[in-house]
Amino acid sequence: MTTGAATARKVETMILRGGKPLEGEVALRGAKNALPKIMVASLLTGEKCTLRNVSQIVDVAIVSDMIRALGGEVREVEPGVLEMCAADLQPMEREVLREFSGKSRIPILTCGPLLARFGAAPVPSLGGCRIGTRPVDFHIRALEDLGATLHDEMHDAYLTCERLQGNKIRLEYPSVGATEQVILAAVRAEGVTELSNAAMEPEIMDLIMVLQKMGAIISVDVDRVITIVGVRSLRGFDHTAMPDRLEAASWACAAIATNGRIFVRNAKQFHMMTFLNRYRQIGGDFRVMNEGIEFWRAGERLRSTALETDVHPGFTTDYQQPFVIALTQAEGISIVHETVYEQRFGYVEALNRMGAKIQLYRECLGGLRCRFGQRNYKHSAVIVGPTPLHGAEIEIPDLRAGFSYVIAALAAEGASTLTNTGLIERGYENLMEKLKGLGAEIVE
Ligand code: EPZ
Repeated sequence: MTTGAATARKVETMILRGGKPLEGEVALRGAKNALPKIMVASLLTGEKCTLRNVSQIVDVAIVSDMIRALGGEVREVEPGVLEMCAADLQPMEREVLREFSGKSRIPILTCGPLLARFGAAPVPSLGGCRIGTRPVDFHIRALEDLGATLHDEMHDAYLTCERLQGNKIRLEYPSVGATEQVILAAVRAEGVTELSNAAMEPEIMDLIMVLQKMGAIISVDVDRVITIVGVRSLRGFDHTAMPDRLEAASWACAAIATNGRIFVRNAKQFHMMTFLNRYRQIGGDFRVMNEGIEFWRAGERLRSTALETDVHPGFTTDYQQPFVIALTQAEGISIVHETVYEQRFGYVEALNRMGAKIQLYRECLGGLRCRFGQRNYKHSAVIVGPTPLHGAEIEIPDLRAGFSYVIAALAAEGASTLTNTGLIERGYENLMEKLKGLGAEIVE
C-alpha cells in the first residue's frame, strides 16, 4: 500500500444508477501524465524542488514513495504542493526497484538521472494499464545510443555508463515515454543530443519547461526534432503543473453522453484543440472562458464520425475510450482506428453487454500508417448508434476504460456495478466526490 504524500483512497466497487444528465462543475488539478515525470526530474539536482497543482492520484504517491526509498525527501508542505530534495540520493537497490516496478511505468524514467548521478541504473519491469504489451525497447535503445551498456542477467537487467554522451537519436515511433527518457538522460550528457521523430505531447512540453527552469538548454524544433545541450549541473525548480487535459476530455464526453452540462474548471483550450474540433463535429458544444471550459450537447442528437487516434497534435489515444461512449449515442455509423496501441478496445465487450453495437476489426479502418495492420490485433472499431444502454456488472480493465464505463453507466438506464474501480483512482482525483457534485446517483 502506498504511504506517499498523495495516497489516494482506493474505491474498489461502485454502484451507479444512470439515466440522469450530469450537471455542474468539476475542477482539474495537475495532469496525471505530467506530474510523475516532473517529480523524476527532481532527481537530477541536489537542490530543493517545489511542485504545485499536485493531484492526489496513485501515480504521485508511487513516485513519492520511490524517491523516498532512494534516500530523497518528499514533503507535502501544503495541500497540492510537494517539496522534493534528492541531495542524499543513494544508488537504487534491486529490491527497491522491484517494489515499485509493476505498479507504474514511471520507474523506467529514473534510468537517465541515476546513470548521470551514479553511473548505474536497474531496469524495472513495467506496470501501468493492460492495453497492450507496452515494451521498453525504445527506452533501452536510446540509452545505449547515449553510451549506456545493458547487462541483462535473468530479468535483473541494469545499465551502466561512465558518462552519458550526446548523440543523434531517431525514435522508431514518437513514443511519449522514450522521448521523456532521452530528455531526462541527455540534459546531463556530455555534448549535444538531437532526438528526431520525438513525441510532442503538452505534458512533454511541461517537463521541458521544468528542465529549462533547472538550467537545461532544450529546443523543440520543426519536424519532431528536440535538441538537448548537455550541462554539468542543474538547480532546483518551482513549477505549477499543467492541468489534466485527458480528464477534461472525459468530463466533456460525460456531458454529451448524458445530455448534461459540465463546467471543467482549469481546462485549457490550447491543450485540447484537436479534441474540441472532433467534439464539435459530433454535436458537442463548448464555451471557452479564462477559468475553464463548459461542455454540453449542441442539439438533441449527436452525429457519427470517422476518427483515427495519433500522436500529438493528432487525436490522443487517451481520448478514445470516453469518446466511443459518446459515439454509442450518436446517429449513424462511426469508425475509430486506434493507431497508438494494439489492444485498446478491450472495454468494448462490456459495452456491448450494456446494449452498445460495436464491432472490432483487424483491418486498419483509416488512412493513417499503422503498425498493427494484418498483425492480428483488433484495433479498429465500428460503432452503430444510437443505442440505448442498460446497466450491467463490469470489471474495470484499465484507467481510461474505467472512466468510460462510469460514463456509460451514467448514460444507461438502471444500475451498474463497477468493480476494480481503484484503477480509476490512478488518474482521476476525488472521482466519487466529483460524480456526486454533478448529480450522479451513486448507490454506496
Ligand atoms: C504515455 O504512455 C501515457 N502514460 C499513456 O497514458 C498514453 O496513452 C501514451 O503515452 C500515448 O500518448 C503516461 O504518460 C504515464 P508510448 P507511454 O511510449 O509513454 C509502444 C493513460 O491512460 N512502445 O507513447 O508508455 C507502446 O507499446 C496512459 O494516461 C514500444 O513499442 O506510451 C505503444 O504502442 C495510458 N516500445 C506506443 O509505443 C517502447 O519502448 C506508444 O507508447 C515504448 C513504447
